[in-house]
Amino acid sequence: MEEVAIEVRLPGQIEPDTLAIPLPDDESAPLSDGARVIDERLGGRLRRLADDGELRGELGETVLLHTDGELNARRLVVAGIGKPGELDADTLRTAAAAVARQVADVGGTIAWLLDESLPLPFEEQARAVVEGILLGSYSPGRWKTDEKPRKRIEKIVLCAAEEDGLAETATRAARIGKWVNRARDLANSPPNELTPEGLAKRARELAGPNLHVSVLDPAQIDELGMGALSAVGRASVNGPRLIVLRYDPPQATHGELVLGLVGKAITFDAGGISLKPALKMYDMKGDMAGGAAVIAATAAVAELELPVRLLSVVAAAENLVSGTSFRPGDILRAANGKTIEITNTDAEGRLVLADAMWYARREGATHLLDLATLTGAMELALGDLYAGLFANDDEWREEVLRAAKTSGDHAWPFPLHPRYRRYVDSAYADLKNSSELRQGSPVLAAEFLREFAGEGPWAHIDMAGPGFLERSRGDYLTQRGGTGYGVRLIVELAQRLST
Ligand code: BES
Ligand code: MN
Ligand code: ZN
Repeated sequence: MEEVAIEVRLPGQIEPDTLAIPLPDDESAPLSDGARVIDERLGGRLRRLADDGELRGELGETVLLHTDGELNARRLVVAGIGKPGELDADTLRTAAAAVARQVADVGGTIAWLLDESLPLPFEEQARAVVEGILLGSYSPGRWKTDEKPRKRIEKIVLCAAEEDGLAETATRAARIGKWVNRARDLANSPPNELTPEGLAKRARELAGPNLHVSVLDPAQIDELGMGALSAVGRASVNGPRLIVLRYDPPQATHGELVLGLVGKAITFDAGGISLKPALKMYDMKGDMAGGAAVIAATAAVAELELPVRLLSVVAAAENLVSGTSFRPGDILRAANGKTIEITNTDAEGRLVLADAMWYARREGATHLLDLATLTGAMELALGDLYAGLFANDDEWREEVLRAAKTSGDHAWPFPLHPRYRRYVDSAYADLKNSSELRQGSPVLAAEFLREFAGEGPWAHIDMAGPGFLERSRGDYLTQRGGTGYGVRLIVELAQRLST
């Protein structure tokens, strides 16, 4: 995938295919300062459109005007950014995504006029605009044979009077955006194509001078005693894999911190013998979105050469039904020695994560963060916008929360409490993998995971809602399928840990 080029220029210095200007929805000032300057060049056309009520600045609305030599851009897109009081990075992303979709047939260069009167610093505007354009122009239709090739957006020019490090910020955002879209490609890949080995293959392709990739096969998984991952993957001819990515930065790092990223990658979750209903089961190809985010984000951190060590472990398996399936009633032994009574084979994510977290600790992770599309109830609780965040350490939770907030991958804290432990107490084994009580399923899943998090800070993100969309979210994520949730969050976290 080619990368979009980034430049910072004065508006007069460029001849873009499209000039985009943000317009707030502000009755007291129908045209912003930036819009007024353009309006003069256009002989008052914007003013007249505003007076007619065609140009209102509503969030996500765009108005396209073809210019005829009045501007040095062939077309102008006025992008509504909504009420001034509601403006944030997400609303700018939404507006930028709408512009990208508006000019999808044209591609080429989009110039965006940064606006001094907005309450966001230029750096944040630049970042949001680049992310919005990249994420907004993504198409999940890669498998269509007759899709007309879209014209690529080749360059984004940010219009500002001073460079001020904007190009670097924006270039970084473009790199990260590219990896977010790669994670979406992985999540959208059909499960016949993206088997556990298929995912491992994609991970291997990312290896480079500072990024080492290794893959454990079923025999190696068994040898290490990973009875939980092994059992989940056992029913499929496409056996499980443990995908391990190690990033060692080229420069010295301060301290001993090793960020351990753990991802759930169930390439298809049929539920196993505790079979899921047929309706929408196809979306369970996205049950590897956490693992996809971990892989793509690790590659992004390596590409950016951030000075923080990463150890990423992705547990890949297919949860199917066959004569070799694990069963409700089985008792498994996880790699950390704990025994697990299986009460529901559809609660498989926590099982594969249990062994992956053990492996990450064994290999030296000091701080753990796992990402998983773990429970349907998390989506019921928070919908498609926020993920739930759980942690065994207050400071670590805050750190992850801050990264979530600035990255746009939103997360909200949920509790862990030892008194939830009884939900996963088993009469036969150390614990069971699900509860027959229909209560607090995301919390008890997290409580289960805590038993396998080992020593040291650990945080868990249940991204069942925002990881994979059934329909447009009405913001900058308008396509069904994978969202790349977690990639931006992880890169932001890695950035914070390295400064
Ligand atoms: N992958 C699912 C969770 C899921 C459901 C993610 C819907 C995204 C959308 C997970 O493996 C699962 O099946 N969880 C069960 C657990 C239950 C059996 C304890 C669930 O949440 O119903
Ligand atoms: Mn399941
Ligand atoms: Zn699952």
